[in-house]
Amino acid sequence: MKIYLIGYMGSGKSTLGKILAREKNMNFIDFDEYLEEKEGKRIADLFKEKGEIYFRKQEACYLQELLDGFDNTIISLGGGTPCYGDAMQRIKAAEGTSVYINVKVEELTNRLSSQRDHRPVLKHQDTPEKLEEFVRKHLFERSFYYNQADLKIRVEGHTVAQLISELDEKLF
Ligand code: S3P
Repeated sequence: MKIYLIGYMGSGKSTLGKILAREKNMNFIDFDEYLEEKEGKRIADLFKEKGEIYFRKQEACYLQELLDGFDNTIISLGGGTPCYGDAMQRIKAAEGTSVYINVKVEELTNRLSSQRDHRPVLKHQDTPEKLEEFVRKHLFERSFYYNQADLKIRVEGHTVAQLISELDEKLF
């Protein structure tokens, strides 16, 4: 069994993935960490030194490694992973189930406002208003890809424990 968690930055993909993997005795891979290990650099440094296009190319390559192997694993993908090239088609064609962790704009903005430093995509959004406006548009564009996931869960009004039991019910 394989599960791909997708969704915007700050939606809780890694937090939920780690807990669910522990409960279900599965392996867990954080795709950002996987990519950083392969490249030997932090994502923020890759963006700075080699640029976003290089990052997206590498992201597309390493995605295929994850799609081709790693059974019994929950994988939390990067927020942009399904949104470039044919990535979402490849995710859907691969073995496993994709899940969109859907968080509303206001909550994402709240969560992300203290995390701008290590998130290169957000680095120019330097006021709360700019950040919210950016996230609203960006999420709107990316929703086209996220909404193609096999399953969707809505986070608002739910505790982590409730979300884990919803995922458990829908996936197992
Ligand atoms: C990105 C999301 C990040 C990381 C990179 C780009 C994006 O992953 O891959 O900074 O374009 O949304 P998380 O969603 O895990 O933070």
